[in-house]
Amino acid sequence: MCGIFGYTGSAEAADLLIEGLSKLEYRGYDSAGISVLNGDIHTLKSAGNIAKLRERRSSVDVSGTSGIAHTRWATHGEPNETNSHPHHSNSNRYSLVHNGIIENYLEMKKDLIDKGFDFKSDTDTEVLVNYIEHLANETGKQPADLMPEILRDVKGSFAIALMDTKNPGVLIAARKGSPLIIGLDGNEQYLSSDPLALAQHCDSAIYLENRHYAVIAPGKKPAVYNERGLEIVAEVAVIDQMKDQITVDKGDFSHYTLKEIYEQPDIARQHVAESFQNHHILPELTHLKKELVAAKRLVVIGCGTSLHAGWMGRNYIERLAGIPVVVEQASEFRYGEPLLFENDIVIAVSQSGETADTMEGVRLVSSIRDLPVIGLCNVKGSTLYREASACLMLNAGPEIGVASTKAFMSQVLMFFRLAMHLADLKGYNAHEGLLDDFKKLPNLIEKTLKFNEATHEIAEKYKDSENMLFLGRGIQFPIAMEGALKVKELSYIHAEGYSSAEMKHGPLALIDEKFPTVVVATDSEQEGKNINTVKEISSRKGKVIALVQESSTRLANEADDYLMVPDIHDMLAPFLATIPLQLLSFHFAVLRGHNVDQPRNLAKSVTVE
Ligand code: AGP
Repeated sequence: MCGIFGYTGSAEAADLLIEGLSKLEYRGYDSAGISVLNGDIHTLKSAGNIAKLRERRSSVDVSGTSGIAHTRWATHGEPNETNSHPHHSNSNRYSLVHNGIIENYLEMKKDLIDKGFDFKSDTDTEVLVNYIEHLANETGKQPADLMPEILRDVKGSFAIALMDTKNPGVLIAARKGSPLIIGLDGNEQYLSSDPLALAQHCDSAIYLENRHYAVIAPGKKPAVYNERGLEIVAEVAVIDQMKDQITVDKGDFSHYTLKEIYEQPDIARQHVAESFQNHHILPELTHLKKELVAAKRLVVIGCGTSLHAGWMGRNYIERLAGIPVVVEQASEFRYGEPLLFENDIVIAVSQSGETADTMEGVRLVSSIRDLPVIGLCNVKGSTLYREASACLMLNAGPEIGVASTKAFMSQVLMFFRLAMHLADLKGYNAHEGLLDDFKKLPNLIEKTLKFNEATHEIAEKYKDSENMLFLGRGIQFPIAMEGALKVKELSYIHAEGYSSAEMKHGPLALIDEKFPTVVVATDSEQEGKNINTVKEISSRKGKVIALVQESSTRLANEADDYLMVPDIHDMLAPFLATIPLQLLSFHFAVLRGHNVDQPRNLAKSVTVE
């Protein structure tokens, strides 16, 4: 996802800007650039990674103590140098960086061309910076005074940072949907779309509210305005609460993705310890007790892996607490006309807390009914963290790999704890033996990681597959879907998740000796049916990789290959089953020579719609 970074103060800006961008790399991008003001605006840009920009910077003298910078994840126009940000206005008076999508940019561009403007790039951003120039020329207003009009008339979502040669040292920041944060450090001021890039410089920050804008300059308190142009007193958040979110390196691991897979036992330990310490209730929900007791239905929204965690949440909440749960793709929910009822409670699941479809779903809820929204989120200070009625923090630490692994584990663990909290409110007791195995879960996750070598061997055997099917039934189904998504994201193999029983109603036609199937069969109670599934595939020459609990030897023997997890209560087996599938997709990615931590085309947080 695109990243914005800005600085104004007394230090040289160029290297600070590039360092700030390096903290945003994990979000995924395809080009980068900086603008520094020193009389004129000096701009350096490059397609590809930040190392290329750093190399260019080393051969060009770019001095100046204020600047803006950007990592671009292409939405309009190819990922090349011309389209990368920052973009200058025709007169070179302004330079702009932008996150988001401007939906009415084509009309604006046509109108500006009629007025004599010309364009070098295919981007909506270059249209916006020239629109600002046009308005400033026409009205004689300062660019900051144009922001209410920009926020009103420019459609879509955006976060922008603007530099103006006529106001040296001043940066203008505006937010409409996409997050933007002002970092405070005495006389120095910073801007970023992500707190991770600020934490090494600042102890406090102002999170721009939606449709607000700000003017920052060295040695002055930021002036923050609402959408009507009225100056407001903005809340200053203490940023050191996120110091623990600063990830510095991969440690001894080859990739962040592998490091984060191996962090899962400790994340589970943290959840299990907290759960037992709090007698399996969630103190963060104390203020919602009345609503939770009265809840007749939960509505869960999320995207991608977070959606799969929501499906796992439904299994746990319906089985342990007896409350109906509907799970919706956030993008479908927000474009639909969802029916929401008085005793509904909404749960929004988002690792980043910034996914546009999920956040628009949250806002749609409040436009229909005043219902509690519980956020499951991994980033303190994120939009979801600040807009939800209550936030269940995943505390998984920053997840740098674009493919979500430890955050998924933490989301599902949090859903399991939420199910137990709701069961407690309803007066239900936990299933026999479930809590005993829950206590063992962290060690069993650690034990499952020891199958890494076996998983690597299977990845070697199937790494050239062009297609794969991932099957699961019941509580395993979301794990099959998540396994297929991981393989898609990391190996670029076309992998499809499907219900085991449904496979014979059509997808079976796909099966031949080149189309392997992973059968997630860690539900020992269904061993017989899972053996049927394996036989249905094998009899069509399809290769089967069975994912089974250690005791399911019969099933393992029916398959061509198998991945084992330790024996555990069937309801907890999905936690273990997800590990070999994460490792399988990781090994596929490495064996196929891909960028594991930043897969092509993907972004860590999709803040565009
Ligand atoms: C998961 O591996 C993907 N990176 C993607 O599906 C992700 O889960 C989705 O974009 C939602 O992100 P969020 O959890 O930050 O809202």
